[in-house]
Amino acid sequence: MSLHIKIILASVRQGRFGDKPAEWITTIAREKEELSVELLDLRDYSLPIFQEAVSPMQIKGEYGTPEINRWAEKIAEADGFVVVTPEYNHGYPSSLKNNIDYLYKEWNDKPVCFVGYGSTGGARVIQQLRQVSTELQMAPIRNSVHIMSPWFLTETDGTLKAGALDVYVKSAESMLAQLTWWADALKKARER
Ligand SMILES: Cc1cc2nc3c(=O)[nH]c(=O)nc-3n(C[C@H](O)[C@H](O)[C@H](O)COP(=O)(O)O)c2cc1C
Repeated sequence: MSLHIKIILASVRQGRFGDKPAEWITTIAREKEELSVELLDLRDYSLPIFQEAVSPMQIKGEYGTPEINRWAEKIAEADGFVVVTPEYNHGYPSSLKNNIDYLYKEWNDKPVCFVGYGSTGGARVIQQLRQVSTELQMAPIRNSVHIMSPWFLTETDGTLKAGALDVYVKSAESMLAQLTWWADALKKARER
């Protein structure tokens, strides 16, 4: 079994916390021999605010610009996704939603899970993203990682405190186990 997982780092903010949990979950996922893993930082896939004339749902071939096609190719490669996301005003960051909206078929029939962080461990943003992903014909899986109060987890120089995410390893392991099951099942179904 060889499954390709994309980990999407949603925050593009200067001085963001998000790179810490993104690198942490990437390291854990890379330990799984059945997974190959690539971390996609949305800073590297920055797209203008969505203003395309045609809905991505209706696009069968190439998208309108090389930048959109580059993003589409990365998402098309995946058998499943881990989205690492902050909660902004009880919702998803616009950087993430904008990149989600550009594509359609590349998301279809694939599982997605979430590492959220914030005062409620990103519970509200994760629920919103489950709703969004269902419209994209994705399979949002049950388990997620909820990192509480990230502002207490860094040193004054912004680095992660030693062992700060250790308490979440068990949640990460069970989430990745579910993601692997779904990625395998849906890959076989897509190939049929
Ligand atoms: C615009 C904005 C809105 C925020 N809204 C929330 C919120 O609704 N709930 C929450 O738990 N934290 C909220 N926060 C605090 C973030 O959880 C915290 O700043 C976190 O570090 C953001 O992730 P990032 O640094 O990776 O961008 C907000 C932060 C910003 C910048």
